[in-house]
Amino acid sequence: MNVGIITVSDRAAAGEYEDQGGPALISEATRRGWRVVADALVADEKVAIQEAIHSFSAQGCGLILTTGGTGIAHRDVTPEAVREIMRVEIPGFGELMRMRSVEITPNAILSRGLAAVVENSLVITLPGKPKGAVECLGFVEGALEHAVKLCVGEPTSC
Ligand code: MTE
Repeated sequence: MNVGIITVSDRAAAGEYEDQGGPALISEATRRGWRVVADALVADEKVAIQEAIHSFSAQGCGLILTTGGTGIAHRDVTPEAVREIMRVEIPGFGELMRMRSVEITPNAILSRGLAAVVENSLVITLPGKPKGAVECLGFVEGALEHAVKLCVGEPTSC
C-alpha cells in the first residue's frame, strides 16, 4: 500500500517545534509494511492541505493520513479542507475513532476527524498528538486494505 503523510501544524511549519506526528505515523506505516512515498509539513491553511492531498494522490498514494487540525482551536481547518475536495465522506471512520478514543481521553470528543475519498485516495484526518494519531489509526486499520483497493480501483471482495 502506498501511503502519504501530512502533518498539519502552524507551529511545526514555522519551525517553532519539531514535528513528531509525521514521524510517528511514518514509523507506524512502515511497521505495517506499507510504503511511505511522500510526506509533508504544512500550516493550518485549507489551500496548503488541499494541495498536499492532490499532489500525494497524483503520486499514487492510495492512503493519505493527515495529523493535526481536527479540533476546535481557532486555526483548525483540516476537516473543512478535506470536505471541500472530497467525493464522498465515510462517517464510520470518525464515529469509530471518537467512540474508541473517549475511552482513553474525554478530550477525544473534541476531534472532528473524518475519512473521505478524494480522487483515487482514502484520506483519514487523525488528531495532532502523535499518541492520538497512532491510536486512531489502529482503531480503523481493519477496513483499510479493502477501502484503499476500492479507492484505487483494484479488484477486491469483502
Ligand atoms: N484521540 C486519541 N485516541 N488520543 C488522544 O490523545 N487527543 C484529543 C483528540 N483525540 C486524543 C484523541 C485532543 S486533546 C484533541 S484537542 C483533539 O483530538 C483534536 O486534536 P487536533 O486538533 O490536534 O487534531
